[in-house]
Amino acid sequence: MAAPRFVDQLNIQIGNEFAAHQQYVAIAVYFDELTMPQLAGFFYRQALEERDHAMMMVQYLRDADERVTIPGVASPVTTFETLEAPIELALQQEKDVAEQINELTGIARDERDFASDQFMQWFIKEQVEEIATMSDLLTVVRRSKDDIEDIEEWVARETGSSEDDPGAPAIAGSD
Ligand SMILES: [Fe+2]
Ligand SMILES: [Fe+2]
Repeated sequence: MAAPRFVDQLNIQIGNEFAAHQQYVAIAVYFDELTMPQLAGFFYRQALEERDHAMMMVQYLRDADERVTIPGVASPVTTFETLEAPIELALQQEKDVAEQINELTGIARDERDFASDQFMQWFIKEQVEEIATMSDLLTVVRRSKDDIEDIEEWVARETGSSEDDPGAPAIAGSD
């Protein structure tokens, strides 16, 4: 049982997370084509995280015995003019998602749906981290855009496979 307004908006958010997944796959492919395996790997991993976010929301709605409607998503951007352009897009995407997460949390509170409010707390923290990571990456790519090896080394050194997060919500189909 969750507030109907929250359920509607969370179903929309499932689509936003899948759209983020598709966008990150497209960015990963772009860097793969440039033979930048570290940066490609980073975005392939980010894509999987977005897919997991969508599936956490699916699991939450299933647990609450609420309606899940898997939506279609708009086509991602697949061509980029500069090396920075995909990272700028990624940073903007994370900022947009942070606003969507805040909006969802606001609806849960307005409706006095405290379980949904609590569910959203992990996503609030996650967005802070993802904006910080993407913002650091943009700084590095802008600084080293004429030295691709420098960027690759930074990505290999500073980003890795994400460590286990015991506080993370359950992912539908993964337990
Ligand atoms: Fe996400
Ligand atoms: Fe994200």
